[in-house]
Amino acid sequence: MRAVLITTLAIAAACGLSACGFGESGVTVSKSDPDYQGAELFAANCAGCHTLTPAGTEGTGNRGTRVQGPNLDQRTETHSSALFVIRNGGYSGAIMPQNIVVGDEAEEVARFVAKYAGKDAGDE
Ligand code: HEC
Repeated sequence: MRAVLITTLAIAAACGLSACGFGESGVTVSKSDPDYQGAELFAANCAGCHTLTPAGTEGTGNRGTRVQGPNLDQRTETHSSALFVIRNGGYSGAIMPQNIVVGDEAEEVARFVAKYAGKDAGDE
């Protein structure tokens, strides 16, 4: 438990000053938001395959690669669906790697995704 927390803080420290975004546009979630950490983790781990504007990621736009995931601006997710996807590697389990983040980090990413995904999804 403690080790996980320290790892999380280390990532936060590493990401804090450098944009940590691999040429993406960067996290727009406020640092005082409880989901800021989840946004940073999303940007670090999920950016390559998913678009999600609050995390500044545009992975879905990379149409040249087969592995690209859905644009999460256009999907609504619940905390439990996001956690399921993270643990199982998508719904099909075929393309998205499982357990890219685990434990507390998986919880944080799932919470961030549940809250911020779907801004372009309309009323579903
Ligand atoms: C290697 C590419 C790749 C990475 C990295 C990746 N994903 Fe995915 N993801 C996919 C693909 C492809 C799908 C769609 C296929 C499926 O659902 O099985 C998907 C599906 C999803 C879905 C379901 C969307 C929906 O409504 O259908 C969510 C939520 C999701 N990913 C979140 C994440 C999170 C959070 C991370 C980082 C921890 C992540 N993904 C990392 C490729 C990726």
